[in-house]
Amino acid sequence: MKKKIVCLLGLILSLNSFSQRKLNVVADKPITSVAPTMWGVFFEDINFGADGGLYAELVKNRSFEFPTAMMGWRESRVNYQKGRFHIINKSDNSANARFARITINDPEGNYSLSNDGFRGIGLHKEKQYDFSIMARTEKPANIKIKVQLLNYAGKEVGSTVIENFSNDWKNYSSSITTNDTAQRGKLNLIFEGSGVIDIDIVSLFPHDTWKSRPGGLRNDLVQKIADLKPGFIRFPGGCIVEGKDLTNRYQWKKTVGDVYDRTLIMNRWNVEFRHRPAPDYYQTFGLGFYEYFLLADDLGAEPLPILNCGMACQFNSGEVVAMDELQPYIDDAIDLIEFANSDVTTKWGKLRSDMGHPQPFNLKFLGVGNEQWEPQYIERYKVFEKAILSKYPDIKIVSGSGPFAEGEYFNYAWKELKQLKPSLIDEHYYKPPAWFFNNASRYDSYERTGPKIFAGEYAAHSKENPEAESRNNWESALAEAAFMTGLERNADIVQMCSYAPLFAHVDAWQWRPDLIWFDNLNTVATPNYFVQKLFSTNKGTDVVAITESEKPVAGKDSLYSSAVIDKQKSELIIKIVNIASASQTVELNLTGIKLAKTDAVSQTLAANDLYSYNKLSELYKLKPEERKFFVKTNKFNQNLPAYSVTVLKIPFTNK
Ligand code: AHR
Repeated sequence: MKKKIVCLLGLILSLNSFSQRKLNVVADKPITSVAPTMWGVFFEDINFGADGGLYAELVKNRSFEFPTAMMGWRESRVNYQKGRFHIINKSDNSANARFARITINDPEGNYSLSNDGFRGIGLHKEKQYDFSIMARTEKPANIKIKVQLLNYAGKEVGSTVIENFSNDWKNYSSSITTNDTAQRGKLNLIFEGSGVIDIDIVSLFPHDTWKSRPGGLRNDLVQKIADLKPGFIRFPGGCIVEGKDLTNRYQWKKTVGDVYDRTLIMNRWNVEFRHRPAPDYYQTFGLGFYEYFLLADDLGAEPLPILNCGMACQFNSGEVVAMDELQPYIDDAIDLIEFANSDVTTKWGKLRSDMGHPQPFNLKFLGVGNEQWEPQYIERYKVFEKAILSKYPDIKIVSGSGPFAEGEYFNYAWKELKQLKPSLIDEHYYKPPAWFFNNASRYDSYERTGPKIFAGEYAAHSKENPEAESRNNWESALAEAAFMTGLERNADIVQMCSYAPLFAHVDAWQWRPDLIWFDNLNTVATPNYFVQKLFSTNKGTDVVAITESEKPVAGKDSLYSSAVIDKQKSELIIKIVNIASASQTVELNLTGIKLAKTDAVSQTLAANDLYSYNKLSELYKLKPEERKFFVKTNKFNQNLPAYSVTVLKIPFTNK
């Protein structure tokens, strides 16, 4: 079996032939600094990442604006005379043109509307949930709404009553504390009395959102990002930026200001894959550009917004805006910088301030286009570059080399972009594990003087089985770890890296593998997540050399390695990936440092089964094991388990 796996990896090894290997680390000769942005995250609203995920709203289609106005809602009634609803459309072109009108004549309360949430509503036991609703009664009416939280079986786990409605639209709110957990619960509104009541923006949020912000983000999901200590956050996409066509593109100006004035659009992943349809996937933009900036601020991560460059997704319509109509797109870029960085006397700076953040967000990076290719991109990119840099010369522009890691489009983009002034070029690679194993030296031979590299979307795509999380297996994570040693070794030119995609709901995904899986209550950290964390929380400040026979350790006989020092913490950090099916012991020879008299720490992530993975029912099958040990001499042996990633943190003294 083991042999079979090794063959599969394309790495035929004679496992018994290892003699003691010697790795030399020169710790006092930093080769290059590690950019603070080296390891970051890429967030896109795919796989119910925002609506149904990070954005903590639990009611789907809360204001009846989905094209199918009652999608997500279910009516229960005895008969038409006792209760019925209509959808009223004000047709005023506002973001919230529709509301529901309920006419009842039933003091017994037999008429109800329930909402399924996003594949159910997750409710934690003994937690507070904040319910709110806009309502008015049309005539003097004697109506109460009993608001129930139900579990899957229909048992009530919490409730409240809303009453005393007026003739004018008003917001009514109440909190509910649950007495039980519900994995796939629902919200049920029971209407009692007689008369006519109009309702809109029916909302339910957990009280415990990230930073306790009302209407905020799901705490556990943000915490997972925060634990990575990301150097940047790239948002909002991805293909989301491009749209299937230009009308469906992401327009940041429509995602700021009052949350209820943000016009909903279809999420392009709604219809992207025939085998994974998601007809109820829309973008409400409750998580919009202001919230993205705020999140980046909270995380201490550089915001990296990506803007549409006048091109829709080339895998779909490939629609482009005419060159002489590009100005509104350019304006979006210029105005975004004003929104993020300018003072409150400016139009967009004032909006940021009115939304609650008078301080600038200090935007430094801006992406022009997501994954575009061919001359259409270059000609549009040039216009953006000129306009942005002439007004904001310090902004670092991120351009892109398209969806492929090599080939015609890639070569063309690089040839053209090299002559322009992007600070970084975004490269994407979704490839089998073997590609990652074989490409750990990819950047060793790149030009050192051109634009820097942003490995903006990557993931090793291994085999899968029906379980959602299965593609995030150990083989894929090991391959990424091996490759990432090459990214780190080349930190002089590789300055930003992010796995993709970040999130996926187990019951609502379109794309896999993904870094973090979740359901309505819990999250799964994949082995790929732990690999990212091992690198991002041990990024150090400067790269130092680790070699075997004076060569980089980049795959020969199954070993990959990179090393950094952390000048602030006085630590030498060595990362070693062993992709052999047998353990190996290496001799580490550290020169140029005096060891401190405190313990070193090793973190090891290993598994014998390359196809094992973490899942909701088995959260920590794979997780790093941490151990303290003492390094007595500068030469010592280190055991590397089969199929493992090892991080060694060795304290040194400057005295
Ligand atoms: O990460 C999923 C998709 O992959 C992104 O939206 C796109 O940029 C790439 O093709």
